[in-house]
Amino acid sequence: MNWLSARITFFIIVFTIAILSSCANSMQSVAIIGGGISGLSCAQFLRTSSKYVPTVFDTGRLRPGGRCSARLPTDATADTKDGILSSCVVDHATQVIRVPEGFTEFRAQVNEWVGGEVLAQFPPNSLSTLTANSNSNSKTHQPIEAEAYYGVGGMNALPASLSSGLNVVQDCWVSPSNGVKFNKRDGKWTVKAKGENLGTFDKLIIAHNGKCADRLMSKTPSKKLHKLLRVNFADRVSKEGGKRMTLKSIYSLTFVVGKGSELSEKFNGVACYIKGDKNLKFLSSNTRKHGREDDEKEVWTVLSSAQFGKKFKGPQENLPEDLARNVTSLLMGSLEEVFGLERKLEVEEQKLQLWGAGVPLNTWSGEGFLYDAENNVGCVGDWLVEPSVAGAWESGRRLAAFLEVGTEGNVGIDDGQGEWKFNEGANDNGIGDV
Ligand SMILES: Cc1cc2nc3c(=O)[nH]c(=O)nc-3n(C[C@H](O)[C@H](O)[C@H](O)COP(=O)(O)OP(=O)(O)OC[C@H]3O[C@@H](n4cnc5c(N)ncnc54)[C@H](O)[C@@H]3O)c2cc1C
Ligand SMILES: *[C@@H]1O[C@H](CO)[C@@H](O)[C@H](O)[C@H]1NC(C)=O
Repeated sequence: MNWLSARITFFIIVFTIAILSSCANSMQSVAIIGGGISGLSCAQFLRTSSKYVPTVFDTGRLRPGGRCSARLPTDATADTKDGILSSCVVDHATQVIRVPEGFTEFRAQVNEWVGGEVLAQFPPNSLSTLTANSNSNSKTHQPIEAEAYYGVGGMNALPASLSSGLNVVQDCWVSPSNGVKFNKRDGKWTVKAKGENLGTFDKLIIAHNGKCADRLMSKTPSKKLHKLLRVNFADRVSKEGGKRMTLKSIYSLTFVVGKGSELSEKFNGVACYIKGDKNLKFLSSNTRKHGREDDEKEVWTVLSSAQFGKKFKGPQENLPEDLARNVTSLLMGSLEEVFGLERKLEVEEQKLQLWGAGVPLNTWSGEGFLYDAENNVGCVGDWLVEPSVAGAWESGRRLAAFLEVGTEGNVGIDDGQGEWKFNEGANDNGIGDV
């Protein structure tokens, strides 16, 4: 090697190292608080960018997913493992995945999920709308023609797929009182849980909504973003959209009956939306979707209306026994009435859950996410697009795309950058479907 080429080689090496290290230095760390569909989709898209290293913090004890998850047989603890319910897959929140018109990227994601056996399509005529008419005691079943999907082996299949390759810190509750702190000096955020420092990040993304998110942001300098996170709980919102985020509460009751029960005979679909009943909004057979080894039993889930959720609201972490008993018997009574059952169903086991911050009744219209450029903090969630898995996925994806091209200016938080809009679907179906 002569003198010149040695020099050139030397400079090329130095130059390459300089470029590589400047890349590494310019990778920005992003803390995402919430491992539901919106947080995971945001993290997944940031991960594939060349600029960001995302970390997701999620309260879920065992896995991410938030309102799109399932109870699995492997979750059983020593005192529950002998029951029938603990031996099967139960979709206890999200029931049906649909692709709203115009969601072309989510369409592609759904196709990929179907190809990878993450999602399966409801067979023809297995999903319907049942209209109960209390006056004439008649009812009609209308099959839903639009494509509809469910998670293979439970709705947790979606978050499981979305979180692959991601750094997700599970069983981590970022405290609403002092969990995040903005450092004015360098514009970074420090994240804490259980008094422990989890790191300092270039950007913060709030990927959950409800009382916690409201409190978490209330003491930060991002006043504009916090203003939109303030939350109301109600069973309705005005057609004009209201003045604040409004969430409705939904009861989810799962119960076990014998396979030959009157309900099993009278309903031969997989799931149905229920219209015209004041208490009930949805019925689904977990057994018909996910099967279970013991074919003698059938496991069902019903979802309540918003009015019902409001009327019987209790502390969701620890529902008082008599409230749970009353709610269960009212929901079972409504079910027997809606399906015109002649006898009371013999329930062998049941589990009741209240989704206090269930589904947003209004959405903040705008770009589908929020971003405060001055304070390096953004927000994603179903309430920024539409109250569904599709909406949450889309929101996360849009903030990631925005960060990818480079952040300039505020989004969604300045005057004229959005407004509260009434959501017909959430109001109508009870579960925020489209
Ligand atoms: C009963 C019910 C039925 C539904 N049915 C359907 C349906 O059939 N089809 C449909 O498309 N949609 C349905 N939805 C709506 C759908 O589930 C949501 O729109 C979607 O899952 C919202 O995703 P997200 O990421 O915005 O929020 P979430 O799923 O709520 O995710 C937020 C995550 O943040 C975590 N978190 C909260 N606070 C903290 C904290 N302080 N620190 C760390 N982590 C925190 C939570 O544990 C959660 O995992 C239903 C919802 C409910 C409640
Ligand atoms: C449950 O129902 C009983 C009988 O109707 C009633 O007396 C009681 O107050 C109810 N309890 C709750 C918590 O709703």
